[in-house]
Amino acid sequence: MTEELHPYRMTVDLNVLDHLADGLYSSVAAVLTEAVANAWDADAREVRIDVDLAGDEIRIADDGVGMDRDAINDRYLRVGYRRRKEGDLTPGGRLVMGRKGIGKLSLLSIADVIEVRSKMDGEAPVGLRIRVSDVRKAMQEGSSEYAPESLSMAGEEFEQGHGTKIVVRKLKRERLRDVDARSLRRRLARRFSVVGSEDFRVVVNGEEVTPADRDDLKFVEYLWVFRGTEVDTTACQQLKEGPPLRSMIVLMDGRMAGACAGGLAPSTGQRDSPLPKVT
Ligand SMILES: Nc1ncnc2c1ncn2[C@@H]1O[C@H](COP(=O)(O)OP(=O)(O)OP(=O)(O)O)[C@@H](O)[C@H]1O
Ligand SMILES: [Mg+2]
Repeated sequence: MTEELHPYRMTVDLNVLDHLADGLYSSVAAVLTEAVANAWDADAREVRIDVDLAGDEIRIADDGVGMDRDAINDRYLRVGYRRRKEGDLTPGGRLVMGRKGIGKLSLLSIADVIEVRSKMDGEAPVGLRIRVSDVRKAMQEGSSEYAPESLSMAGEEFEQGHGTKIVVRKLKRERLRDVDARSLRRRLARRFSVVGSEDFRVVVNGEEVTPADRDDLKFVEYLWVFRGTEVDTTACQQLKEGPPLRSMIVLMDGRMAGACAGGLAPSTGQRDSPLPKVT
């Protein structure tokens, strides 16, 4: 009876992973941005990215809260896990960036081997290895499940007692065209406007990413600070002092993109791209 009422079945093939990973993440910078967003959500204070093309691997290590086996299975290895809503805060009080539970799939698009080692405070470290070629094999055999290998964690150190280390190996060469350090730093600096602060440091190949890496501050003429945000303006060489503005209309390509009114004096603030002319 039930079968007659529900004769249809919707299944989602592991194949979808390929399409998701391939279609969504166009560049290594986009992929690494996802990993940094995850570290942000884990309340990490520092993320270290080491791109070692000669050694055929990329390492991403954060000092966030880390994961235990359950968190790995229920969140990391679950595609589409969704717990957060717009405006949710992390235990550390940050606005959560992750939404869809698919960000980690991006790693599958740049390498064949993904190793995740993680540790929560006071818990045993855990580790696993995903081989994309094995995921594909499982999928070709009609399986909708894949079991990553467990890694021995003997001798594995986590400086702060917690955190997550991801190593991707056997890099897919065609995906690596755009991995020049400058554009990677630019993208990270623009996406994470808090870089360079005490609270969140992102270090790429040993060098900290700073607001100057945004590469757009040199175009800025007028800046406003909201809620007392501290902004390093040393890279803003064209910054103009002006009389206090009462109101303004923002026009982009001749169309009104925004307007505001108030008694704010122009001083400092941040934008993601060169500011349009305000008329
Ligand atoms: N570096 C990390 N430290 C601790 N937990 C992590 C880390 N990376 C991922 N996770 C856990 O794995 C889950 C899945 O990560 P994933 O990036 O796939 O999705 P998301 O961040 O929730 O959403 P989005 O698809 O928007 O990125 C996260 O919600 C988090 O619980
Ligand atoms: Mg994410």
